[in-house]
Amino acid sequence: MNNTLSFEDWVRAHGQRTESALDNLLDAANTSPARLHEAMRYAAQGGGKRIRPLLVYAAGALSDDTNQNALDAAAVAIECIHAYSLVHDDLPCMDDDDLRRGRPTVHKAYDEATALLVGDALQTRAFEVLANAQCDADTRLTLISALADASGSRGMAGGQAIDLDSVGKKLDLAGLKQMHAMKTGALLSCSVQMGGIAAKLNPAQMQHLQNYSEALGLAFQIVDDVLDATADSQTLGKTAGKDAANDKPTYVTLMGLDYAQKAAKDLQETAIASLEGFGPKAQALKDLALLVVNRGK
Ligand code: IPE
Ligand code: IPE
Ligand code: MG
Ligand code: MG
Ligand code: MG
Repeated sequence: MNNTLSFEDWVRAHGQRTESALDNLLDAANTSPARLHEAMRYAAQGGGKRIRPLLVYAAGALSDDTNQNALDAAAVAIECIHAYSLVHDDLPCMDDDDLRRGRPTVHKAYDEATALLVGDALQTRAFEVLANAQCDADTRLTLISALADASGSRGMAGGQAIDLDSVGKKLDLAGLKQMHAMKTGALLSCSVQMGGIAAKLNPAQMQHLQNYSEALGLAFQIVDDVLDATADSQTLGKTAGKDAANDKPTYVTLMGLDYAQKAAKDLQETAIASLEGFGPKAQALKDLALLVVNRGK
């Protein structure tokens, strides 16, 4: 991180960088087919903490030689995949949610078929932006491969399958961790990994990042579970109490609130400790770990 910037200023600057990169990437809302393009913008813009792009930029700050074009492509690609995952997660055949980022979900504001297509199109746009990134071919391919792996059946989509299959069941702690690591951890880890790829970090450094992001990814979903049980819909911008209503196994239902909060805190410490060798360049990653676990407090 630029030492002259406070973390709040750093978040603001990189949030704006994300918004303008997304704005450039997405077709204008009136481009034919206009309903689809408008709904893609609706899904990807107008809210969201942009945690994944921030993780990309924070990991990219670990080197002075990071390819900034690759970094911008990675930041918007991961946010497109994330936005698509939310649109599909909210569909009636999945979590059946009406509220997202303080607004009606895409299938409510438009219709189910449009929501399905928005997800499809955001997903392919993510790979398109990486394929066109202005950087060396090796970096491009490594980014594409990392994102495909994290998004698919061994990552986010696989985790969502386990989530749906677990409704009404009592997973054990190992099963719950595996589900969380896949449905949420994989994309968060991939964000950090892609920043490291654009920064051309060595394998030992990538391993430290992996340790950081695995802990952070699990902590993120634990906090999401805690907030689902403790915060209100207005604060969350999504329907509170949805996990209990849908009979989903979560850290809170399985282990209780106190255990879940303590687990998130322990994982935050593990994440921060993994960054020890990077020195002051890892400050934004450390601050993001604090932000993720303390949000909603
Ligand atoms: C919500 O993610 C879905 C999970 C993976 C838990 P975020 O909490 O990052 O949602 P936005 O992008 O800020 O809306
Ligand atoms: C969603 O988990 C994970 C995704 C891959 C989208 P949740 O179903 O808990 O996310 P929210 O609470 O609806 O945002
Ligand atoms: Mg879900
Ligand atoms: Mg959901
Ligand atoms: Mg949730």
